[in-house]
Amino acid sequence: MNNLTPLINTALSKELHALIYHLGYCSQQGSFKTYAVGGFVRDLLLGRENRDLDLVVEGSAVDFAKSLLKILPGRLRCYERFGTATLVLSKGIVFDMVTARKEFYAAPGALPSVEQSTLKNDLFRRDFTINTMACALNTETFGRLYDFFGGRKDLEKGIIRVLYKLSFVDDPLRIIRAIRFEQRFDFVIEEDSLAMLTRAINNRLWEKVSKERLYNEVRLIFREPEPSKVLTRLDELNLFHEIFPRLVFNQQIKSRLQRLERVLTEISLNKLPKNWNYLVLYLSALFYELTEHDFKFLCHLMRLKREERLNMLSIREKIPFILLQLKTSDLSSSRLYHFLEGLPEEGLLLIMALAPEPHVQKHVLFYWDYLVKKTPSITGKDLLEAGIKPGPVFNRILKKLHEAVLDEKISGKEEELGFLHFLINNEIYAEE
Ligand code: CTP
Repeated sequence: MNNLTPLINTALSKELHALIYHLGYCSQQGSFKTYAVGGFVRDLLLGRENRDLDLVVEGSAVDFAKSLLKILPGRLRCYERFGTATLVLSKGIVFDMVTARKEFYAAPGALPSVEQSTLKNDLFRRDFTINTMACALNTETFGRLYDFFGGRKDLEKGIIRVLYKLSFVDDPLRIIRAIRFEQRFDFVIEEDSLAMLTRAINNRLWEKVSKERLYNEVRLIFREPEPSKVLTRLDELNLFHEIFPRLVFNQQIKSRLQRLERVLTEISLNKLPKNWNYLVLYLSALFYELTEHDFKFLCHLMRLKREERLNMLSIREKIPFILLQLKTSDLSSSRLYHFLEGLPEEGLLLIMALAPEPHVQKHVLFYWDYLVKKTPSITGKDLLEAGIKPGPVFNRILKKLHEAVLDEKISGKEEELGFLHFLINNEIYAEE
């Protein structure tokens, strides 16, 4: 099959499908030639959808992107100097557009200089054969597959193969990428490529890359479905300790990560918190036993954002105590709430991985599914109306009410108001 139209028509979601046809039409109208390349084509052939579209544009990617913005609502960033543009559309669809080019790396790890050229040249400088296939999008040639370097055969055989000898020298981050793809797809790194990769590791080529770029690549490991496999392989290839100094990848860490992966697959998607952070979760598991000094050192090395670091610190400080408390099976709802309240959500997932006892799992899920939503209907306004003056007492009363609601001692506004008056009459809130 040298035309991917049937796959495009069946494997993609409706919206991406429509967008792609539209894009091809606009490209044709504007006298550009546009190709989807790399991961999108690879994943399409694997029957998966990739919403991160890499597009190569013959003509000017920046001009084409600007013309698209007039029709498709989105955010556009252009880098005129590099002839690249990124168009972020709704629902996580991103078009990364480059002008067809030849790349010359001035020094290992340096940014490429750009010169306009053909599709084949663009594809040749890419990382692995499986990422070098292109699919024409212009209406006239829509769906035509371009496979100059045997990418399709390697994809079918499950092989990761570099295109040229100096690939890892040009971009040492490809060492990590190769391992990620190998583990993600259960592929093997082809013999010569593996020899080049090992040589690149022995020659410590990753040191030529800035720490920012290196740890940006490392972050991606934790977005994989099974980071434990990637880290195991990094360890086999003697790279783990270089990336995470002061941390030993032992069986205990590996099992912890595997349990976490299992928790994430078992927990239904709609239960997962909306904005949770893979990195915070996995690094918390990975760094769990480190001393505070080493923990801070590695957080700094990983270039964590302030919020990520604070959440990791909070998880690290709170979890040992919480675990101890949750091991008690008869825990009142308000006590449970009290222990888990304020713990970053990644911490809840980590607890489930750290404590396999069924009642701990039950506690966390009960908190998550039920307790967090159970709040009193009484507000500050009701307290004012009841004659309470604003001040610390407000919070104390609301807390008592909340606890009573959680423990189902009262239910509904009427009972809450009754309880409020009971508290006021007996000045129970003043005890604390
Ligand atoms: N690429 C490369 N060398 C790199 C990074 C990327 O040659 N160090 C090329 C590859 O052709 C890749 C494309 O740029 O397909 C886009 O890279 P990326 O955004 O990482 O996308 P994917 O290959 O789709 O990776 P993933 O599935 O992890 O998103």
